[in-house]
Amino acid sequence: MVRLYSPFTVAIPFYGRRLHHTDRTSMFYKTDEPHGLPHDPLKSCVVPRPIGWISSLAADDTVNLAPFSFFNLLCSEPPMVMFAANGKHPHGHKDSIVNVEATGEFVCSMATWDLRQHVKETSAPVLPDTNEFELADLETEPSELVKPPRVKESPIHIECRYHQTVDLPCDIEDGRNTICIGHVVGVHIRDEALTDGLIDTARIKPLSRLGYQEFTIAEKVFAIPFLKK
Ligand SMILES: Cc1cc2nc3c(=O)[nH]c(=O)nc-3n(C[C@H](O)[C@H](O)[C@H](O)COP(=O)(O)O)c2cc1C
Repeated sequence: MVRLYSPFTVAIPFYGRRLHHTDRTSMFYKTDEPHGLPHDPLKSCVVPRPIGWISSLAADDTVNLAPFSFFNLLCSEPPMVMFAANGKHPHGHKDSIVNVEATGEFVCSMATWDLRQHVKETSAPVLPDTNEFELADLETEPSELVKPPRVKESPIHIECRYHQTVDLPCDIEDGRNTICIGHVVGVHIRDEALTDGLIDTARIKPLSRLGYQEFTIAEKVFAIPFLKK
């Protein structure tokens, strides 16, 4: 019998539990036990994750902006989105979830390759009275239907009204793992993001999160035509 070993298996032979099946070897770990790898691999197992760049207002109208890669469109009729604010800051829960629960609105601006440095800068664990637009040298643009501003430099903005928070278990003392769900009430698309009426993904290069410190961009686009009877 021929055994097939991946290069990964050969290079790191003793991590996790070795599973031997008929012709393959892999590692397995239980999430409540050590995985044995240099870094937690789980976030690299669900990739790429889109990044929602969430702007919100605090109860005192301080503007807030932060990136969230636990972010997605959930359904389209009606259109709903989610971002998950997890854990805590030294000063308390993440400002984004505190703000959205207090003021009921948020905007998701699209993070792109061109804006990658600004995205990182707005993730700093700063105090709630810091305006991350100013911190990252970004311009605001007024929204149409909600009060939080949009990131002017971004090509796509999704205006949302708060719908519901789902609280998840959280192993971090005094932390909070939340799924914040919003109803999409308006969408802005810049002209330069459209080609023949279609969003030109390869041109705008949306930024996505991988595991570790890795990112990727959606650059290679192809169609798989749906089969018709
Ligand atoms: C690309 C990227 C994605 C991130 N995704 C998340 C996420 O999904 N959930 C989360 O809680 N923090 C995430 N963070 C960290 C937050 O952006 C960071 O904690 C930020 O300070 C939160 O800001 P806030 O307190 O203004 O809400 C991410 C950071 C980066 C750079």
